[in-house]
Amino acid sequence: MRFIYECCDCHQVYETDEVFYQCPSCAQKNDGTAFPLGNVIVKLNEEDLAKLKEQEHVSMYDFFPYQVPHKDVYPVGGTPIARPKRLAEKYGLKNIFCKLDSALPSGSFKDRASQLIAAQAIAHKQNRIALASTGNAGAAMSCAGAAYGLEIILFVPATAPVNKLMQSVLYGATVVPVKGSYDDAFALSIAYTKQFGGINRNTAYNPMTIEGKKSISIELFEQLGRKVPDVVYVSVGDGCIYAGVYKGFYDLKMAGLIDKVPHIVCAQSKQSNAISRAWKTGDFSNLAKATTRADSISVESPANGRMAVRYIHESEGWATEVDDSEILEAQLELAKEAGIFVEPAAACAWAALKADHTMLRERFGSDVDVCVLFTGSGFKDMAVFTGKVSIPEAIENSKEAVIKRFER
Ligand SMILES: Cc1ncc(COP(=O)(O)O)c(C=O)c1O
Repeated sequence: MRFIYECCDCHQVYETDEVFYQCPSCAQKNDGTAFPLGNVIVKLNEEDLAKLKEQEHVSMYDFFPYQVPHKDVYPVGGTPIARPKRLAEKYGLKNIFCKLDSALPSGSFKDRASQLIAAQAIAHKQNRIALASTGNAGAAMSCAGAAYGLEIILFVPATAPVNKLMQSVLYGATVVPVKGSYDDAFALSIAYTKQFGGINRNTAYNPMTIEGKKSISIELFEQLGRKVPDVVYVSVGDGCIYAGVYKGFYDLKMAGLIDKVPHIVCAQSKQSNAISRAWKTGDFSNLAKATTRADSISVESPANGRMAVRYIHESEGWATEVDDSEILEAQLELAKEAGIFVEPAAACAWAALKADHTMLRERFGSDVDVCVLFTGSGFKDMAVFTGKVSIPEAIENSKEAVIKRFER
């Protein structure tokens, strides 16, 4: 599909066939103290979009700026929807459904962006992709790299969960742990591509990450019988997934396939609440420190913070902050009462829904359609359970031991 770029901040339009990252005039104002300026939005051609209205079905690929070659090499999409009956009854909301993006090839939502970035690299005849990641984007890009035969250079904070780093090493990426924060790794990966070339996949810095992530909304639209939920919950760190979810619904609306973008709720930890704070107060300065245990959403300077705040307003959404203890509780509740095993960052969305459930019932009624996006698998970070969940002691290999174990 034909497309142009528009700066999210000054609205300057750019038309180019080259790989394009940021609005140069806004980006040059960035001094590292506030959310970055200059991220660009991919604007799809309106005539091309209008044609999609005539189709009986649409797929995410119909809305992509690049064609994805050999889709089955790295099969992204088609993730299941779970309807957690016990939890729906517990919270008095009949129509809760959960989109399990933990089922994607590398175990997180980030595969959606990595698929389109791989397509972008192939279209531009580039073989090398560099990025910074808190862990999941790196694992996803490394997975895509292995599938398509692309070289991946990954900068990660040395403190990232070992399972995520191990995944990237196993997929064959060049992993560069950084003695610093995610924000430091972000800056270093940009320095790398400026020096050595290749595509930079940094979240939101490369606008195609948002385009890839929008696929979830288009997929939901088809899975739900060509309709969209009333409210969508998503966990937020940099604000790139949030923007992707919004953009998918926005493109559906521009194509005339839906009337209204759902309310999209930005779920954040109180220990990493930069975007929520900016939405509430208009303060776009960086956080002094993000300390949440939910490592994937621990961000001081959200790379896509300004666009996310704009989209919270445009979707008539809101931000809900929860404590880290509520996130870990939500993670265990999902496992025990719904059989859904997600990492802490993903459980933040559920913790936010729990915090909001009375308000949701009062404002929208108990049959409101609420979709919770689960963005990462629980297997990504087992260390979080150390000291909280233990495996029972082994019994002797005898019937007597079984009787002793279970007799009351
Ligand atoms: C599992 C998971 N959930 C949510 C997020 C938040 O996405 P974003 O940083 O785009 O806000 C991330 C980002 O790494 C993630 O890995």
